[in-house]
Amino acid sequence: MLIEYKTMDGPVSFPKGLTVMPVNMNAKQSAHEKARVDIHPWMIRRDMAQILAIEEQSFEFPWPEEEFDRCRNKLNCLSMVSECREKIVGYMVYKCHNNYIALLNVAVHPEMKGRRIGEQMVEKLKSKLSSERHRKIIIKVRETNLGAQLFFREMGFKAISLLRDYYDVTEEDAYVMQYHYSQKSVIENRKMKKMRRTA
Ligand SMILES: CC(C)(COP(=O)(O)OP(=O)(O)OC[C@H]1O[C@@H](n2cnc3c(N)ncnc32)[C@H](O)[C@@H]1OP(=O)(O)O)[C@@H](O)C(=O)NCCC(=O)NCCS
Repeated sequence: MLIEYKTMDGPVSFPKGLTVMPVNMNAKQSAHEKARVDIHPWMIRRDMAQILAIEEQSFEFPWPEEEFDRCRNKLNCLSMVSECREKIVGYMVYKCHNNYIALLNVAVHPEMKGRRIGEQMVEKLKSKLSSERHRKIIIKVRETNLGAQLFFREMGFKAISLLRDYYDVTEEDAYVMQYHYSQKSVIENRKMKKMRRTA
């Protein structure tokens, strides 16, 4: 039986008994200035030590190096790496499907969080969307990863479904969050940013 729940992103239907994203999601206050980063559209072997160190510090179940290698060897799997003063401060791995992009991994160095590095990478990814080809970005976020849920919501993503018991090791559900390319959402996003800057 499907029950309709209210989320910050509007009503979403899930099977009865499932948890929902918390409704009270006050965005945190920005404590730092935006970091100036160079974003490279590749992840090279030389970067791996720094990337794995960030991965270890960012996740309870970090990707092993082989997972990064597997992705690097797939033609439709791409990545980006953010550098600040010649140090890697963030990265993203994504897979291009026929008409959508699946965001597989994203992390920012713990000491550089809250400096809009994640935002700059997501904006770069959004710029790859078009009405002709890749029209949306999809990411699966652990139900316990509230920080990431809030981050993607702030980036204009919406929770569209819940995958029950999605992960192997834990009994967690995954929220599927989606950003859909449309002129309206791009414009709204810009407006929101402008308002934030002038507030
Ligand atoms: C999620 C993550 C990539 C965000 O990167 P970031 O560079 O710290 O985020 P940004 O500074 O670009 O945040 C942009 C906006 O998102 C929101 N946001 C980001 N992190 C947030 C948090 N923990 N709680 C609430 N809001 C958050 C804020 O509104 C922020 O803008 P503001 O600082 O002006 O208020 C980073 O926190 C991270 O590496 N987390 C650990 C790994 C992870 O969970 N990855 C996602 C897997 S699904």
